[in-house]
Amino acid sequence: MTAVVRALTRADIPAAMRIKEAAGWNQTETDWHNLLQLAPETCFCLECGGSLAATATAACYERRLAWIGMVLTDPAYRRRGFARQLMEHAIVALAARRMEWIKLDATGAGAPLYRQLGFEPECGIERWASTAAQAGVPGMPDLSWQDRCSALDRQAFGAARSQLLAVLAPLGAAAVADQGYAMARPGSQAAYFGPCVSRQPETARELLAWFLARHPRGPVYWDLLPHNTEAVRLARACGFAPLRRLVRMVRRGVPDAPPLGHDDSQVFATAGFEFG
Ligand SMILES: CC(C)(COP(=O)(O)OP(=O)(O)OC[C@H]1O[C@@H](n2cnc3c(N)ncnc32)[C@H](O)[C@@H]1OP(=O)(O)O)[C@@H](O)C(=O)NCCC(=O)NCCS
Repeated sequence: MTAVVRALTRADIPAAMRIKEAAGWNQTETDWHNLLQLAPETCFCLECGGSLAATATAACYERRLAWIGMVLTDPAYRRRGFARQLMEHAIVALAARRMEWIKLDATGAGAPLYRQLGFEPECGIERWASTAAQAGVPGMPDLSWQDRCSALDRQAFGAARSQLLAVLAPLGAAAVADQGYAMARPGSQAAYFGPCVSRQPETARELLAWFLARHPRGPVYWDLLPHNTEAVRLARACGFAPLRRLVRMVRRGVPDAPPLGHDDSQVFATAGFEFG
């Protein structure tokens, strides 16, 4: 059977959801739609014998950073080199667009492949979960997305994600003027807290309380960088516990990429493994 790599389209989403379900992941159809809206030219799939067998997406933040996600192979098609083919295709496509850096959050199954493709570990990233009923503090109004949060996000993340934030904000967003913001969105297993960028732990605590008030019955997920010890402290204090550990990995997209600064001490929750 011939394997063909091609662009992922909206028509592929039902099949992509089935592969996602087989991996037990939390994304919804809306997440796939958002990825395609953000990066219609750098979301790929591999078709084998007319079936969708594998996927890989790359959200592009300016020319600075591409974020690879949704690297999934249907269990029936694994160990045939499909994920490798898709990753190699994505790396070439990103180099053609002169994307300076490429990052991803690697599972244990994906990490050996990424190492072979030149990615190096940057830091750990953990999914924390809370299943207990939570006493959130209502009262913080759902604030609409504000431009100045974009600048805060860029400083913490290292590349401008304003398009991503604009797409996620309608699903749920709150901000404390010039101090921090957080977003919330549904998941197929659990509501998701993130991204959350905050100058101070106290502001992150307020934003988490806003989120928990929206989801009082759980379960809820939150992906954090464990070297941000304030984020860990807050998660523990609010009844969250670690569920999975992944490795954030990085690779140059072009040989002369200038350094990519970021400030993880302000990143209290990431936008999700597929978005960065
Ligand atoms: C990880 C995954 C995408 C690999 O897909 P695949 O199409 O089977 O991968 P490939 O056949 O291209 O294998 C490429 C390399 O990945 C590694 N690899 C693949 N599956 C692996 C596994 N189960 N355990 C360890 N390494 C594995 C190997 O290094 C392999 O090289 P090899 O064939 O020389 O041993 C697939 O197992 C999957 O969908 N897993 C669940 C979701 C997931 O964890 N995705 C990765 C997100 S970062």
